[in-house]
Amino acid sequence: MGSTVLVTGATGFIGTLLVDYLKKRAYRVRVLLRPQSDSAKALAAGVEAVRGDYADPSSLRRAVEGAEMVFHLAGVTKSVDREGYYRGNVLPVRSLLEAAVSAGHGPGRFLFVSSLAAAGPARNPEPGVVEEDEPHPVSAYGRSKLEAERICRSFGERLPVTIVRPPAVYGPGDRDVFQFLKMISGGLMLAAGDGRTQRFSLIHGKDLVRGILMAALSPAAVGETYFLTSPEGYSWDRVAAVASEALGVKKVRQIRLPKQVILAAGFAGGFAGRLTGRPALLNPDKAAEMVQDYWVCSPRKAEADFGFTAAIALEEGIRDTIAWYREQGWL
Ligand SMILES: NC(=O)c1ccc[n+]([C@@H]2O[C@H](COP(=O)([O-])OP(=O)(O)OC[C@H]3O[C@@H](n4cnc5c(N)ncnc54)[C@H](OP(=O)(O)O)[C@@H]3O)[C@@H](O)[C@H]2O)c1
Repeated sequence: MGSTVLVTGATGFIGTLLVDYLKKRAYRVRVLLRPQSDSAKALAAGVEAVRGDYADPSSLRRAVEGAEMVFHLAGVTKSVDREGYYRGNVLPVRSLLEAAVSAGHGPGRFLFVSSLAAAGPARNPEPGVVEEDEPHPVSAYGRSKLEAERICRSFGERLPVTIVRPPAVYGPGDRDVFQFLKMISGGLMLAAGDGRTQRFSLIHGKDLVRGILMAALSPAAVGETYFLTSPEGYSWDRVAAVASEALGVKKVRQIRLPKQVILAAGFAGGFAGRLTGRPALLNPDKAAEMVQDYWVCSPRKAEADFGFTAAIALEEGIRDTIAWYREQGWL
């Protein structure tokens, strides 16, 4: 058996894939189970579970103690308000970093999974955002991830920290890109503005977790930030064409929504979310992200520093993901 590693957010989409990947590489995987966590799911994964709470430092120290690496994936991607992002993305990372510093045997690497949203959209699709660009997040989610990054860097003297920023992630278990695939399976595509000009980076979850481990093991990555991404930015039309082919859908009716309509729908969704207390699929925050033209980031630094390139082609990744949704009865 290999060394012990701690994964937070282990019951989520990317966390599930990372736990699986680490177990296959013979790491002893420990997960942090919050009182609200889906404990049945974590325990079914056959890992060591440490019960804890981000507001309880001693429980976090127990979770971190003896872990060679910490992978902090826990976070909130949808919230009805700014406070929710702050509580889920900013406070936990600070508590966990403090626990890692105070643990008797601290980790040899603290890897934080941030997001392209922390950097903000690119001004041009080529080469997209690079790590050196000044961040300009356009959403409360992105601002909370950027603040979490700042906190990670402030621990850089005391801990070997690495930050990775994935773009949109798809793959088995994802529920966001799934909405798009479900729409295509029904022969419909809604696009923000002109579906031909917008570009976005994407990464398959299995590629991402491979990149996360490569970053955590790379001596060159200490104190650094990386995009882990597809080599190119895709248009909605391209992804829709690949998806309809894989789904066997002959004709897809496209409805192009003007950006103002998306912003207005986001406003309405946000209002409904606050009334019900449940984040709607579209809210002002998500709408502000959706109307951007280029959510594209450059893969070059990760390739140069630790040799990571995404290996799963869009066609293969979409096929594999659709097969999983079908197996699960989601499609
Ligand atoms: N999916 C994407 O496209 C994408 C893209 C870029 C970056 N990311 C980042 O990648 C990480 C994982 O994303 P994901 O898609 O796997 O998300 P997810 O499926 O929503 O999982 C996130 C996990 O975080 C934990 N969590 C939820 N609410 C929390 C809270 N208030 N405080 C602390 N922990 C909480 C939960 O795990 P436990 O119950 O096990 O603690 C949850 O399963 C996140 O940090 C996200 O910002 C995701």
